[in-house]
Amino acid sequence: MARIYIPYGSVEGQTAQIAEYISELIRAHGHQTETADLKRSGHTLPGGFDGVIVAASVHMGKHEGYVTDFVKKNRGELERLPSALISVSLAAHGEGEEAESYVAKFGEETGWHPAHVGMFGGALLYTHYNFLKRQIMRKITRDKGSPALDTSRDYVYTEWDGVQRFTEDFLAGLAAPSR
Ligand SMILES: Cc1cc2nc3c(=O)[nH]c(=O)nc-3n(C[C@H](O)[C@H](O)[C@H](O)COP(=O)(O)O)c2cc1C
Repeated sequence: MARIYIPYGSVEGQTAQIAEYISELIRAHGHQTETADLKRSGHTLPGGFDGVIVAASVHMGKHEGYVTDFVKKNRGELERLPSALISVSLAAHGEGEEAESYVAKFGEETGWHPAHVGMFGGALLYTHYNFLKRQIMRKITRDKGSPALDTSRDYVYTEWDGVQRFTEDFLAGLAAPSR
């Protein structure tokens, strides 16, 4: 049995949901997990874990600053342990180049280049945004030529089966004799 730490950053809650989904999945495989909202918890990676999955979302082209700080501070441990990055954005739902550029920028800023990187679509949560955010997101969406313009509903793009495959691959890597 392994113990996996899942620290995350999330502004509107989609990455928090993804972190909880991963946590439940790993537990269903008989392992232990702990999720940590990095907005609230400390910046030190606690000891006693066998693997770490860091999840963060993208706003205005960047992942949460407090996740960047966490990774910078704990880079040594993240490099020693099997670790993965999950990047959540709307761009990850599309062609992927833009989503890859966010990950590349994160790598440059933190110096951390994990073996496992997952990029997953986030959500357009119009009904949760305040007036201003709703208008901004609708304009960005329209400018991109996307049809997701009905602000009376939400659009969720997370590919849950992809998240599942990614998590199971990560677990398989933990079990493999040489990593
Ligand atoms: C104000 C704002 C700015 C955003 N900027 C970007 C962006 O630059 N690129 C992108 O791909 N997605 C962008 N998104 C989409 C978010 O990445 C997406 O909504 C994601 O699900 C947010 O995850 P969270 O709920 O865990 O914070 C933005 C969303 C909001 C609300």
